[in-house]
Amino acid sequence: MTADLGGLRTLVRRAPHVLSLWRGSGRVVQSARRTDGTPATDLVLEVLDGLGDWRSVDQVARVLDTPRPAVEVLLTGLLALDLIEISASAPATDDQSRHAPALAVRAGEDAWRVWSPVARLFHLATRDVTFAGAARPGPATADTAAAVTPAPVASAPSPTLPDPGGAEVALPAPVLPGTLREALRLRRTHRQFAPGGVPLQDLATLLGVTFGVQAWARIRDHAPLPLKTSPSGGARHSLEAYVWARQVDDLAPGLYHYRPDRHVLSRLDGRHGPDAVTAWLPSQDGYQNAPVIVAMASVLARVSWRYRSARAYRVILIEAGHLAQTFCLCAAALDLAPFCTAALADSVIEQGLGLDGHAQPVCYVVGAGRPMGGPWRPHADRDAPSVETTLLGEALSRE
Ligand SMILES: Cc1cc2nc3c(=O)[nH]c(=O)nc-3n(C[C@H](O)[C@H](O)[C@H](O)COP(=O)(O)O)c2cc1C
Repeated sequence: MTADLGGLRTLVRRAPHVLSLWRGSGRVVQSARRTDGTPATDLVLEVLDGLGDWRSVDQVARVLDTPRPAVEVLLTGLLALDLIEISASAPATDDQSRHAPALAVRAGEDAWRVWSPVARLFHLATRDVTFAGAARPGPATADTAAAVTPAPVASAPSPTLPDPGGAEVALPAPVLPGTLREALRLRRTHRQFAPGGVPLQDLATLLGVTFGVQAWARIRDHAPLPLKTSPSGGARHSLEAYVWARQVDDLAPGLYHYRPDRHVLSRLDGRHGPDAVTAWLPSQDGYQNAPVIVAMASVLARVSWRYRSARAYRVILIEAGHLAQTFCLCAAALDLAPFCTAALADSVIEQGLGLDGHAQPVCYVVGAGRPMGGPWRPHADRDAPSVETTLLGEALSRE
């Protein structure tokens, strides 16, 4: 798109989320919506400094003591790089402070405006990863996703964590009743739970089916790769499950780490869940009585060892979604009431679990309890919604 300053009365101002960063030996200014910028010359910085509010091109020319045509060239260049933005129309009067002009907003801009610069930088930096020609890394796997740098096989991080040393609880083998169709039809998010604990058998099924290693793939002389019910980029399976068992029949309440290779719970000695669930899930109503809460935390090194592109971080978050869906479907199959939430107090959870949040950040929380009887009512303090099943929904109900 060719940048166009518009008419004589166009107003300009600095775009939000303009960054200054060092590239090589020089400093550049760059919009958070782009991957390119311009050298941060004194002139560019002076113009951007002075454009905190709407200004006419003539005002800019006066301040810079520079002929208007030259200023137009400069501003057109800054506009092309999204470093400034222009008003959609000129204000009715010259008094810009009282008549703020409408902004020419591009389609889809609103979301990025509120999420930027962080989300936009991450999104841009992880778009359009080049797959072709990426060197194969040490371990052989089934996919070629994301740019990679070879890494010595010997240094591959283990797919399992070291034993935390606490008492172990052997879990019964998973027993998953019902059909996929039924589970898909029944799955809903619940934020209230009937009194009573979750049977240990059900917890074992939830953990074993969702997080447990179903098989090991052995390829040539490489370290075995875990395979689970959910896919994982490069079979890295970086997400570990930490269980806050609050009310599980035949299981002492407390914090546990699920060992996906051996299907046991390791008690996290000396660590306790907080007094209230809201310490982990702030601003969330309804989970106070959740009998089971599971926090997923990614061992980043497992992924970064193989994938050197920042896109790999996207992959981890996507994988958390896969696992959460499997967890929720299993819970539905077990006639439990599942939930998933992104509204979590990351650092509080990491501290509580004794995790180094930089090496193993928490990214998602799921949980389950016993369902309340009656029609689905996602919020205890609100009326039950009227739910109208579509033709597609009815198809799932048919035998
Ligand atoms: C990534 C993600 C984050 C979510 N975060 C929250 C949350 O913070 N709090 C909450 O009560 N529900 C949360 N939910 C649940 C949604 O609100 C719920 O899925 C939605 O209302 C649709 O209802 P259903 O799951 O019963 O189909 C989240 C769901 C997803 C997929």
